[in-house]
Amino acid sequence: SMDHKIAPSILSADFARLGQEVEEVIQSGADLIHFDVMDNHYVPNLTIGPAVCKSLYAHMQRTGIEAPIDVHLMVSPVDQLIEQFIDAGASYITFHPEASQHIDRSLALIRDGGCKAGLVFNPATPLSYLDYVIDKLDMVLIMSVNPGFGGQSFIPAMLDKLRDARRIIDQSGRAIRLEVDGGVKLDNVVEIARAGADTFVAGSAVFSAHRSDDPHGYDSVIRGF
Ligand code: DX5
Ligand code: ZN
Repeated sequence: SMDHKIAPSILSADFARLGQEVEEVIQSGADLIHFDVMDNHYVPNLTIGPAVCKSLYAHMQRTGIEAPIDVHLMVSPVDQLIEQFIDAGASYITFHPEASQHIDRSLALIRDGGCKAGLVFNPATPLSYLDYVIDKLDMVLIMSVNPGFGGQSFIPAMLDKLRDARRIIDQSGRAIRLEVDGGVKLDNVVEIARAGADTFVAGSAVFSAHRSDDPHGYDSVIRGF
């Protein structure tokens, strides 16, 4: 289907003006706000947590900006932060199966909290983690770079992995989004979409465009996706 969604990753935004950055990308046509949470333990980088999510959510409510916050947890352990992000206004919460002691329990926590749940697959993590939990998922997120940093190059072998994930989702007959994260740019997004992804995270591709001197801000790059 053509139900494609674009999810700018605020990892590459200007954190000193995060509320405005989010307003601008949503007004330019973005569908989700991708919120990367890194703990300097599961991945070698440190970013933002539930307090920032809560403030951003409140800002979006106040300013009438409607977009789901798509929280990507790159943390271990996961369960305590899942609860905090449920309270902080997340719509989607995704985590890496290797980072959870009890994957089924973590998925249940997310759905019991009223959020949509997803599993994230690192480039070398097998899709067999889907075997017994596919009925508990709203999203599958395929990492097309190793997690931890924006601005890395898309790993080409992830196109086959996306095709495999698309087949598994279609065979399940369930409404599960297939998101891709890492190195997604205007010049490879068509190929990535053909491989079956329907939700596209883009960090540097979106937020570095703005800093070059495009008078239309984020409009052209987001419409380009
Ligand atoms: C990487 C993050 C990504 C990152 C993508 O660990 O999960 O969301 O921000 O950035 P780009 O689009 O620059 O590869
Ligand atoms: Zn991410």
